[in-house]
Amino acid sequence: MMPKAKSSRNQSLLENLRRSTADGALFESASHAALNYMRSVAERPVFPPPSALAKLDHFDEPLPDWPGDAIPTLALLHESGSPATVAQTGGRYFGFVNGGALPAALAVKWLADVWDQNAGMFVGSPITSTLESLCERWLKDLLGLPASTVAGLVSGTSIATLCGLAAARDELLRQAGWDTCARGLFGAPEIRVVVGAQAHATVFKALSLLGLGAERVVVVPADRQGRIEVARIPKLDDRTLLILQAGNVNTGAFDPFHPICTEARKAGTWVHIDGAFGLWAAASPNRRHLTEGFELADSWSVDAHKTLNAPYDNGIILCRHRDALVRSMQLSGSYIVFSEQRDGMIYTPEMSRRARAVELWATLKALGRHGVAALVDELCDNAKLFAEGLVQEGFTICNDVCFNQVLVSCGSPELTRTTLQNIQKSGECWCGSATWQGQFVIRISVCSFMTTGQDIERSIRAFVNARKNALAQIKKP
Ligand SMILES: Cc1ncc(COP(=O)(O)O)c(C=O)c1O
Repeated sequence: MMPKAKSSRNQSLLENLRRSTADGALFESASHAALNYMRSVAERPVFPPPSALAKLDHFDEPLPDWPGDAIPTLALLHESGSPATVAQTGGRYFGFVNGGALPAALAVKWLADVWDQNAGMFVGSPITSTLESLCERWLKDLLGLPASTVAGLVSGTSIATLCGLAAARDELLRQAGWDTCARGLFGAPEIRVVVGAQAHATVFKALSLLGLGAERVVVVPADRQGRIEVARIPKLDDRTLLILQAGNVNTGAFDPFHPICTEARKAGTWVHIDGAFGLWAAASPNRRHLTEGFELADSWSVDAHKTLNAPYDNGIILCRHRDALVRSMQLSGSYIVFSEQRDGMIYTPEMSRRARAVELWATLKALGRHGVAALVDELCDNAKLFAEGLVQEGFTICNDVCFNQVLVSCGSPELTRTTLQNIQKSGECWCGSATWQGQFVIRISVCSFMTTGQDIERSIRAFVNARKNALAQIKKP
């Protein structure tokens, strides 16, 4: 039977959309807007001022009934959306741990967006599979990881940690004679989870998602820099999952991996290292000592979108035990076509994924081994420069600046808080806050390749002005 003729109205709607796939004017406008943004970002207010935030009202409209023109849609986004962005690709954004975006990686991302590949299987995208394999090989070489290590490319460290802990849970239980994938956790033998008191919030989230219980953990005290105290780690065994970190989110401190991982290997304990931004220290001859012994662990999570300055959405799970990771991420279906080549989805929770290997590959290719080392060193040196400049201006630094993180106090919590508010409003630079050792502190994360010595100087001036204004505000009744 012949299919029914489609309504002519639907046909013309879709015909218009099809025509715009190669619409030069549309994509030239997009590239014009993007270049305009890139060229102005360094001088944009780092956080959008109230006038820019007010423009967000322009987006408030009911769901359109009919297709809209793409060019005015793009113009709306650029005119009212670009000013309301956080200028984190400039050189004076020091919030959270957000990296910049290297041009070489951004450019290939534009092209790969046009490809719109599904990275799940080799048959879905041979080029993406090829680049994933290459990135896996390069990462092992760059970081000095065991030859058996495999890499899954995920959205960020939250998911990478979830994958590492899933593999750990399932492997420890498999060795105890239990198949978690088939039987779940009901009635399973107990496994013990040991974490440092300063483990990142996403570790606890992963534990709760995995049914391991965010609160059912042995918490080992941490020292004043946030490093797990080795002497207080309980006796390890082969029913234990131990979670360590390379780079504390506040101080940047690294757990002492060598003594811990050596014991853990003897005991059959699975060690996972959350190295969201700090794992890259291993790629710098000047900073590698911070990670000594980390290669003895079983799994590692890391972000390319932080220290490495790949564009966002670029996390990696690295696992020494291929079979354990693959078993935990398994999936089957009659229509799925596994190949002799790399099928990326066997290492990740998702089936369909964007081709993030493209940006990772371009980032590694743009930097090379020495470029990665230089980038890591530059971020760390700039953090030291920032801290030293602030000390000269009478601020107190509350951590040992061993990596890229700096914690700052102005003395009283009220003065620190008001100074931070003034910094954030100034548009000159942007920092967040934390409570460290019971004290409210300003938190600086130097994470962008764009940050120069001049940016640091300008930011220190912003700190000084913000504190001067804060003193005047506090004195007023
Ligand atoms: C130590 C640490 N772990 C995990 C995360 C979460 O990473 P993501 O936001 O990429 O999921 C962060 C984020 O800053 C972090 O610093």
